[in-house]
Amino acid sequence: MSYPTKYDQSISEKEDFWRAEAQKINWFTFPETILSTDGDDLYRWYAGGKMNTSYLALDIHVEQGRGAQTALIYDSPVTGVKKQYTYIELLHEVSLFAGVLKAQGVEKGDRIVIYMPMVPEAVIGMLACARIGAVHSVVFGGFAAHELAIRINDARPKYILMASGGKEIDKIIPYKPIVDAAIKEAYFKPDGCIVLQRDFIPCNMQHDLDFDWETLVSKATPATFEIMDACDPLYILYTSGTTGAPKGIVRDNGGHAVALNSSMEYVYNADPGSVFWAASDIGWVVGHSYIVYGPLIRGCTTILFEGKPIRTPDAGTFWRVIEEYKVNTFFTAPTAIRAIKKEDFEGELFNKYDLSSLKYLFLAGERTDVATYEWASAMLKRPVIDHWWQTESGYPMLANLAGVGLIPVKPGSAGKPMFGFDIRILSPDHDFMPPNQEGAVVIKLPLPPGCLPGLWNDNERFVSSYLTEFPGYYFSGDGGYRDDDGYIYITGRMDDVINVAGHRLSTSEMEEIVASHYAVAECAVVGCHDEMKGQLPVGFVVLKHSYDQQSDQIALELVAKVRDTIGAVAAFKTVHFVERLPKTRSGKILRKIIRAIADDVPYQVPSTIEDMTVLDELKWVLKKTADN
Ligand code: COA
Ligand code: AMP
Repeated sequence: MSYPTKYDQSISEKEDFWRAEAQKINWFTFPETILSTDGDDLYRWYAGGKMNTSYLALDIHVEQGRGAQTALIYDSPVTGVKKQYTYIELLHEVSLFAGVLKAQGVEKGDRIVIYMPMVPEAVIGMLACARIGAVHSVVFGGFAAHELAIRINDARPKYILMASGGKEIDKIIPYKPIVDAAIKEAYFKPDGCIVLQRDFIPCNMQHDLDFDWETLVSKATPATFEIMDACDPLYILYTSGTTGAPKGIVRDNGGHAVALNSSMEYVYNADPGSVFWAASDIGWVVGHSYIVYGPLIRGCTTILFEGKPIRTPDAGTFWRVIEEYKVNTFFTAPTAIRAIKKEDFEGELFNKYDLSSLKYLFLAGERTDVATYEWASAMLKRPVIDHWWQTESGYPMLANLAGVGLIPVKPGSAGKPMFGFDIRILSPDHDFMPPNQEGAVVIKLPLPPGCLPGLWNDNERFVSSYLTEFPGYYFSGDGGYRDDDGYIYITGRMDDVINVAGHRLSTSEMEEIVASHYAVAECAVVGCHDEMKGQLPVGFVVLKHSYDQQSDQIALELVAKVRDTIGAVAAFKTVHFVERLPKTRSGKILRKIIRAIADDVPYQVPSTIEDMTVLDELKWVLKKTADN
């Protein structure tokens, strides 16, 4: 069936479409109801269907004779370790660790926070939670203690699964002090931590609170899977919103499994047995969906890579992995390709490797700029596919569907809607925008299976954040337009969320931290363009008068304060001191104009501006900094 016909069916006969998709996975009880609403009038998919996500990712493949196939490849250039697990071996490890959790008193519905680097035990921990019906919440290792504490308070985990440390290129990151500080700060106290000791950074254990991972596993008996309802939560993944409080995106079991399986088929054209590599981190949604659940549910071999695109050891490392494991489908962020392009523009390293296994390169996390697209296409001589999605959706909403038949790529566009996503472009007055005119990118409700059914313990915020601004639609937070041929172009966030090297961060959260410094009178933090990382947060700060002479020292303190509170991943390194900030007469800071001036792009001055001369002052400060 052609894309337009199948897409139309997925919108006009959505229940039939998603019933057929659901039949592609193994249920213990097939759902009688495909789409329904719950007590809060929120949509639910497959309510009453019985299944288990860990069973779908592991047991079923063993039962169907794929047990000897490699399920997981661990490749860690930062430690020099490589390891592989067949489906039988991974099932064994997951069952054993599920037994550990059971023995520790973890029950269906309990939450488990996972704060771990890219090691197989992190994947085993996630799948073990899924097996016994515990809800995992993975926290990215680049976040500091305070961010971890916020998530502990919200998720209220029974245990934290952690490693003693990680390695960032050549820098060792001890995790234990971060977790200890987070538990100290949090008002909710977990029962304890299960600690994976890594030999390059062993940590001290606290009696009665810390449990050694390997010791527990050595005493464990394997645990079988719980029968889960399709609507039971599988995981919570926190993501940046427009305030300091991150949003706890909930993922259910049934819709998620169906949607990921469909995406593996339609978006990625990845057959069972093929090798799929998403070079992301399990702390992000890409890692959840396409390092762990998607490829394993589909019966692929997945790769867990503990390294960076460059300097581990060089810009050829991605190509080395593709050659070594005969990767068929590769997925990374444009920023990673830009980093490689910068170091190996002519492709000297690239040309050393045999990439004949590779069929596609998929890019997401930010818009693929045309220069990156062209360089990657010229090097790889294979389809380079930009696709758009969010933590909230869990899988691509826009793509060029490789499994249905690629359409011509239009550089700069993320393609056309994935099945089930009825995407519209609306004006602020809720009118449909004509082709080629920018507006808010929204999705007509109901969202298809796999998308967030809500926020953890906060349906009110779910409704106010996503469903209120455009009634009847989910508001993605992104702006964009559709061209005459139906291709959609995402132009960027319409809120205070920025994307730094593929990492989603909140500038208002940074602003709150900077504003709380004793010497700061007022401030704005905006996301400015950066050649390599796409965007970087930049602070514009007005000091209280008595601190005017101490700006160098205060800049260092502000950078350290953001790093200590959010984490190194915030990459907040630049502060400009200004006399005033541009504002409207009612006192609203004009952040869009600050950003436009910093990026040196055209902007429109609103008639409500308080004083035009402040814009010249701002330009002068930026010029002076650039000249220095
Ligand atoms: N644990 C601890 N610290 C971490 C971390 C982790 N898991 N991940 C990143 N950090 C730290 C880094 O060490 C760095 O610290 P520094 O300021 O002391 O140098 C800081 O956070 C910023 O890291 P990063 O964003 O990775 O920038 P970088 O300059 O080290 O590397 C890139 C630049 C482009 C190579 C890198 O950002 C990259 O590979 N990006 C792709 C991201 C991606 O795949 N995103 C997933 C979306 S699909
Ligand atoms: P995250 O939730 O971390 O995956 O970030 C989601 C946000 O990243 C989206 O709302 C977009 O702003 C941005 N994004 C992701 N993929 C793309 C893409 N292909 N093109 C443009 N923006 C993207």
